[in-house]
Amino acid sequence: MTDRYCVFGNPIGHSKSPVIHAAFARQTGEDISYAATLAPLEGFRESVMEFVAAGGRGANVTLPFKEEAYRLVDEVSARAALAGAVNTLIVTRNGIRGDNTDGVGIMRDITENLGCPVSGRRVLLLGAGGAARGVIGPLLDAEPQVLAVATRTKEKAVSLGRSFGALGPILGASYPELAGESFDIVINATSASIDGELPPLPDGIYRPGSLAYELMYGHLDTPFLDHARQHGAEFAVDGWGMLVEQAAESFFLWRGVRPDCSDLLEKVGDGAVCSITA
Ligand code: ATR
Repeated sequence: MTDRYCVFGNPIGHSKSPVIHAAFARQTGEDISYAATLAPLEGFRESVMEFVAAGGRGANVTLPFKEEAYRLVDEVSARAALAGAVNTLIVTRNGIRGDNTDGVGIMRDITENLGCPVSGRRVLLLGAGGAARGVIGPLLDAEPQVLAVATRTKEKAVSLGRSFGALGPILGASYPELAGESFDIVINATSASIDGELPPLPDGIYRPGSLAYELMYGHLDTPFLDHARQHGAEFAVDGWGMLVEQAAESFFLWRGVRPDCSDLLEKVGDGAVCSITA
């Protein structure tokens, strides 16, 4: 019998996860189905319970439910606990296990697909919400020279820095404090692009060879990526590769089989192709 999986989100119509998992299933011969499920904003728990009661084997969780999923699961992986967010549900004999594959996804995309090492580099992370929290642990594991986190309200970045401080060289800053600093990798984990806005970055942030990485996928013309190209970033990419890689890691957790991502990495999200390839 076909094993059922899905992704819960709200909104969910734009999600490319069903296409990605269908490609993984074809490639690996795993007998699964994978649907996009719109969960009501006040009804995430009920949607998950209904899915599990109907025999669902696992799910991905996207905006705005990742923190709620963390609170809902019966057990949680160490990396999900660190992020305080869950993007993968695994139905086990003991209940629902929560994991987080976003961090693995971005690290594989940056270091392997894009060939950009993090170790010893200066990294700047914009934003301090759930998306930022999910990638801080894996970024620090890769031993950057420094990981600066910037927010408009400095306290948020400082408190994030404090909570991850034991893991590596992280510091919180306001945007004006970035003046005079430059970075090898700048990651936009804010929601500014959704509103067509640009985080207030000072000039001179990019240095030769630097990478600008937009977590959002499907658009290569966000204000952040346009600004990066105009201000000396050598590479400006969206989060399509991260989406594909986090999906592959979820697929592996569910099926014990690791799909090959190379075909999908060359393909598109909403007509937007990654501007550089491996
Ligand atoms: P998510 O869970 O997707 O990360 P969130 O918790 O709402 O969403 O966090 C959004 C982040 O985007 C916040 O850190 C917010 O920044 P501030 O802490 O500076 O308020 C950031 N953000 C939203 N709009 C922004 C903008 N126009 N410029 C810069 N940062 C912005």
